[in-house]
Amino acid sequence: MNRRNFIKGAIALTVAAMINPTELFGTATAATALKWWQKKSVYQIYPKSFLDTTGSGTGDLRGITRRLDYIASLGVGAIWLTPVYVSPMVDNGYDIADYTAIDPRFGTLADFDELVAEAKARDIRIIMDLVFNHTSDKHPWFIESKSSRDNPKADWYIWRDGKKNSAPTNWRSIFGGSAWQWCDERQQFYLHSFATAQPDLNWENPAVRRALYDAANFWLNRGVGGFRIDAIVYIKKPRNFVDGPADADGTCSVHNMTAATPGILDFLHEFRREVFDGHDIFTVAEANSVKPEDLPAWVGERGVFNALFEFSHVNIMFPHGEVWHRAELFKLSDFKRALSDSQRATRDSWYPIYFENHDKPRSVDNFFPHGTDKILAAKALATILFTLRGTPFIYQGQELGFANAAFDSIDAYDDISSRGQYDLARADGLSDKEALRFVQKFSRDNARTPMQWDSSPNAGFTDGKPWLPVHDDFATVNADVESRDENSVLNFYRRLSDFRNSSDVLIRGDYRELLPASEELYVFERTLADKKICTAVNFTTHDVAIPAKIFDGARKIFGNYPDEKNFLRPTEAIIYEL
Ligand code: GLC
Repeated sequence: MNRRNFIKGAIALTVAAMINPTELFGTATAATALKWWQKKSVYQIYPKSFLDTTGSGTGDLRGITRRLDYIASLGVGAIWLTPVYVSPMVDNGYDIADYTAIDPRFGTLADFDELVAEAKARDIRIIMDLVFNHTSDKHPWFIESKSSRDNPKADWYIWRDGKKNSAPTNWRSIFGGSAWQWCDERQQFYLHSFATAQPDLNWENPAVRRALYDAANFWLNRGVGGFRIDAIVYIKKPRNFVDGPADADGTCSVHNMTAATPGILDFLHEFRREVFDGHDIFTVAEANSVKPEDLPAWVGERGVFNALFEFSHVNIMFPHGEVWHRAELFKLSDFKRALSDSQRATRDSWYPIYFENHDKPRSVDNFFPHGTDKILAAKALATILFTLRGTPFIYQGQELGFANAAFDSIDAYDDISSRGQYDLARADGLSDKEALRFVQKFSRDNARTPMQWDSSPNAGFTDGKPWLPVHDDFATVNADVESRDENSVLNFYRRLSDFRNSSDVLIRGDYRELLPASEELYVFERTLADKKICTAVNFTTHDVAIPAKIFDGARKIFGNYPDEKNFLRPTEAIIYEL
């Protein structure tokens, strides 16, 4: 950019800020000292699929410890472990039967302590997943609670009488089917927002809350660096349980009836006081349906958590609720608006940047048009991940450019929600083929196929039979091959991560979106004092002109093409310094 244009740009920016001060944001971090979790990224591990050291076909804690140097090479400051507690594994660990013990499939408490210590030696903290909305139906608390209507834990869960032998309300669980399950022993129904085997806890009972806080403190005492708090928006239920507006099948998603019920923040502030306060930890909660404008009440000094995974940018395909076969086409301007709204809403707090996790399809297949080159797409998304304002979250395999794995029959899917979504689609009149198409696109198993370490059988994940098939691209998409290739997705991640970790502008700078109406380009800039970095990504499969006014004279410092043109090629991503 030449000097005249730069000055013009600066004046325009200042005027824009005067007219609408919310256009410039992110200044809060400039004034205060940074926390460790703001300076580096987080790597998310799904232990079941990471590395198996016993030949069981299932990953384990020792496998994670063995790969710590690999994880450290990504420049991360923490690892978020999805649940490793004792569990019947109906929902792969999100159905917990003992909050303070490690499931033998994953190892022992001694293995856990070793992981914490070895990670610490590499300046990496372990973040535990707290699943406090529900337990497993095999948890001793539930076994006692269901045994009678007057045992000491009788009201630890949500029990209701039915209406003339039918469920108390028309609520549908998030995994499909009624959210109520009849229990012969008590002659009552219990509520389960997720699977039948995941009964919801009754947070109104102070003894329940105390027991949960004690469990969290158990892990803090073992030296964990923080928590990812699961499905937290559902813990508070409405005072009255009534039928909700019915879909065609007569049911109403429990999500619409219970998410973020008023009063929930009182519970959460107590949680913060009893567990988080006084510790140098990172807390990030999963909060589907908390809108960007509500974020200030949930995060930051006056809120409860350090950051919140809200779903607005990953749910843009689901404007009518998260039923897969009602998905709409991806629209770039919606995606950008969601991200910008969240960046704006967290200008005084913090934001966890994520495009993948264990519940979402692989991003190279999710946010780009059909026919997009997957390597370019993986690098393009990485470019956004590391240049937005907040802590980047990398989900295992994302740094290798993992793609969706389509299985050819519903029976091949392990994920309980994929089966529920398939049944919903079939009940709505879709053929087997049509229903399967949506499962292939959105199944959580897309993110759960085993890590691909090398080109040996089962991608080096296990010597046994993997619990879920390895993706058939493993011979070329794996950590070993990619670490030896300078141009791989993996080495792109490593370089970008180093760059982000050492860039004050990227860590502290303000965020401002340019060209918000474009359905082709995502362009934003980060500014700190007189320094400016600009990210531009072409989301199409054709060439797109670069608006000269924005980039004239800018210096390219990163890109997913080796050279530079005066237009953006398909899926091209560039970081400019201005
Ligand atoms: C969260 C988890 C998901 C789990 C659900 C129920 O959404 O991320 O994997 O199935 O909660 O615990």
